[in-house]
Amino acid sequence: MREAAVPVKLWDLPVRLIHWGFVVLLPLLWWSAESGRLGLHKTFGLVMLTLVVTRLLWGLVGSPTARFDGFLRGPRAILDYLKGRGETARAPVVGHNPLGGWSVMAMLTLLGAQVALGLVTQDVDGLESGPLNSLVSWDTAEAAREAHELLFNLILALVVLHLAAIAFYRFVRKDDLVRPMVTGRRRFSEAVAPPHLAPLWRAALCAVLAAALAGWVWLGAPPFGARYPWDQPALAPLDAADYM
Ligand code: HEM
Repeated sequence: MREAAVPVKLWDLPVRLIHWGFVVLLPLLWWSAESGRLGLHKTFGLVMLTLVVTRLLWGLVGSPTARFDGFLRGPRAILDYLKGRGETARAPVVGHNPLGGWSVMAMLTLLGAQVALGLVTQDVDGLESGPLNSLVSWDTAEAAREAHELLFNLILALVVLHLAAIAFYRFVRKDDLVRPMVTGRRRFSEAVAPPHLAPLWRAALCAVLAAALAGWVWLGAPPFGARYPWDQPALAPLDAADYM
């Protein structure tokens, strides 16, 4: 087979920046939590929120290789791909393959859920809490803390699986997926139609919307710093005169 003379631009800049952002942030989130630097942990968490929301928006309005409707396929396509039959197995996949597509979705869902739990959780003694902690009851915050710890292990397991899959493609299928995630470009063994990448201003708009959401959350959404009944200051104690 002949290598395509010109490598195809496959991954746009937003997908790559967000991806490597995840790679940097995840260890930072772990380290800041483990070392008790919770202020820093919350800041990293809000950056993670911005990245995840930007990626979700980009999955709706971004480049064809970034869009969910471009890579989330049904069970038949996944089976065909695994069994090496059908169009998905024969033609080179310009983007995520049918199985990889769902692992992307799983990763984004877990990262998003982890951020959401962090927003409402509190630490063991209830002294430090996420910016939306006042919106939930004590019991919910406690349950969120346990789930936050559990989910981190699940994310780690998914990352290990992710890296194992990449190593499998690299060493068994002789297919280097990492370089395209760095440069955006990939060589295909046959000519393929290059995807029409979406303009960067659209990604900037997604990032601004996501950052605005993170800012709103940081302020303690919805009417800023809202206090709910269980978090109202206790009523002033009654005077003896009140009983007369
Ligand atoms: C910190 C942990 C990581 C997370 C949370 C993560 C998450 C993701 C996500 C969400 C995607 C989909 C990209 C998109 O469409 O937006 C992806 C793809 C990818 N990641 Fe990671 N990643 C991690 C670590 C790594 C590392 C360390 C490497 C390289 C050594 C790597 C290499 C890749 C590659 C090559 C792809 C593209 C796979 C394909 O061609 O379908 N990832 N990753």
